[in-house]
Amino acid sequence: MSKLTFTQQQLKQAAAKQALTLIEPGMILGVGTGSTVNCLIDLLAKVNLKGAVASSQVTENKLKALGIEVLDLNQTGELDLYIDGADEVNSGLELIKGGGGALTREKIVAAASKQFICMVDDSKWVQTLGVAFPVAIEVLPQARSYVARELVKLGGEPVYREGFVTDYGNLILDVYDLDIGDPLAMEQCINNITGVVCNGIFAKRKADKLLIARQTGVEILP
Ligand code: 5RP
Repeated sequence: MSKLTFTQQQLKQAAAKQALTLIEPGMILGVGTGSTVNCLIDLLAKVNLKGAVASSQVTENKLKALGIEVLDLNQTGELDLYIDGADEVNSGLELIKGGGGALTREKIVAAASKQFICMVDDSKWVQTLGVAFPVAIEVLPQARSYVARELVKLGGEPVYREGFVTDYGNLILDVYDLDIGDPLAMEQCINNITGVVCNGIFAKRKADKLLIARQTGVEILP
């Protein structure tokens, strides 16, 4: 008998379905950005949310299209729950995010939430962050070249994400080959470069819980 295999999209849907079970009616939910989050948004009409805080303009538009009220984080206070995907996750539940360029707003909403649940398919699981996927860094436009030179000094190879402007009107450098043996130290080191707005290493505010969809089912860590 042939073995059933799920596609990556089906695994993303499975992770999102599991995440849905952790949302309580009446909540104000922090909602991330990306294709995995889009699977969750498709299911959110079933939950009677009080409202949502969006981590990007794209997510905001999708939530509004479903009739979900999108609230300003300055009005909501601390959120009970933020749910988002990731580009990479390690066993310490530290993440690389920002493939979609929404890292700054995502990091703000994650930081302002009591609990951060990350949902991924198992292709995102890595031993060491940043070996396969670059770290996205949001920079003020005028500082782009200066920040790139500083990143080279850190051993990275920055690539300007041409034609992309963030929700805040800034630019993105995707940095390859950084040694991220210590994610928290590297996150803080990059933040110290003048002109950097935010970087895609989520170690200071890492995930509290990981839903990882595998061919065998959705594993929940820890
Ligand atoms: C966007 C992100 C996303 O969470 C990350 O890129 C994962 O996206 P996807 O669910 O499409 O794989 O950080 O800035």
